[in-house]
Amino acid sequence: MIVPSTRSPEELAAEARAFLAEKAGPDTDPAAPTGTWLAPGRVNLIGDHVDYAYGVCLPYATTMATAVAARKRSDGLLRMLSQAPNGELLDASVALAELDEAVNAPDATPGILPDWRGYIAGTVHALGAGGMDIAVVSDVPLGSGLSSSAALECAVGVAARDLYELGTSDEELIAATMRAENFYVGANTGGLDQNAVVRGRAGHALALDFLGNTHEQVPCAMEGYQLLIADSHVEHSHATGEYSSRRGLIDAAAAALSCSFREEDIVERAVEWAAENPADALGNEPEVVRRRVRHVHSETARTIEAVEALKAGDVERFGRLMNDSHASLRDDYEIVPDALEAAVQAALQAGAVGARITGGGFGGSTIALCPDDRVDEVAAAIESATRSGGFPVPTIYATSAQDGARRV
Ligand code: GLA
Repeated sequence: MIVPSTRSPEELAAEARAFLAEKAGPDTDPAAPTGTWLAPGRVNLIGDHVDYAYGVCLPYATTMATAVAARKRSDGLLRMLSQAPNGELLDASVALAELDEAVNAPDATPGILPDWRGYIAGTVHALGAGGMDIAVVSDVPLGSGLSSSAALECAVGVAARDLYELGTSDEELIAATMRAENFYVGANTGGLDQNAVVRGRAGHALALDFLGNTHEQVPCAMEGYQLLIADSHVEHSHATGEYSSRRGLIDAAAAALSCSFREEDIVERAVEWAAENPADALGNEPEVVRRRVRHVHSETARTIEAVEALKAGDVERFGRLMNDSHASLRDDYEIVPDALEAAVQAALQAGAVGARITGGGFGGSTIALCPDDRVDEVAAAIESATRSGGFPVPTIYATSAQDGARRV
């Protein structure tokens, strides 16, 4: 079954406002005006694991979003209210002066506040804003590859920017939210998510080119087709483990070969480098390096072609490129768990023109581009294939491209 709808921006904002009013307590300034801000999650249509490798990505901002209600405080404290997935109230305070000390300590290393507080406090601190009360309400599922963390950072970021009249540009906002994630939380992710969440525009996909740091809004009508997201409920974390190991190798190769991974001979050069410098290649066998670099090289080429296909309205070609991207992420980058593979194959057999894992992988979500008259069959096929494979049954959402982070 497809989730009928998630809460509208106005509903989310009203709930965040009520949450703040109910829980913020007497130590806050009741006269301080409260505002509400919203930031969507994102899906990446194609172009994964290339944002940190000078590549091209094609995301859009989703209907699922995060709202914050916020107001200024004059005591330099950040009071943060949220709800854990199990319904438990999360209530934390951080003094910005303490964060100053931690950040400026000579031995400061990434991961100063490595949990949900780091996304909020890291963003506020990186922007140079002051104390705030912040209450969070979200429909972006956590740990699902749909950028719940960027939605939180960016909702907080636009709130801090407005309340403190910082005059921050979108580019600076993206940099500050990335710093929250990379330095304060300590997840060494790229810029795909924050760009998509800040720059999202209704009815458009965002072509991001990390080589020249440029972006282009591409109309994304896809008349007659619908995008389904299947959240597998297989959880991942990018702060540790496999994501960092993939990125570590690509960073090392980029530094050693001074390349953008678009060069024709880059795969062979990387294999030679790994054979001659096993320690620099972080212990990855040359054949593993071949596959990893081949993914990065081919994914950017595919994404550039997919942008052309989208502009030309060639949905069939776009779908084939999505499928090729999925195969590359599965076979060369090795980030596709069995549960997500089952969902993708089921979607294709039931008539999707393209299906793939989306986001960082090792869990998270898949997407399927379906002709309007196949949507229900595709959703049913995903549910039945995952159930019979003994995997968690995904939650399925229909989504379309929405506006990015803003005041509501
Ligand atoms: C996660 C990261 C992004 C990007 C994707 C993979 O979402 O946060 O920076 O690397 O994975 O494309």
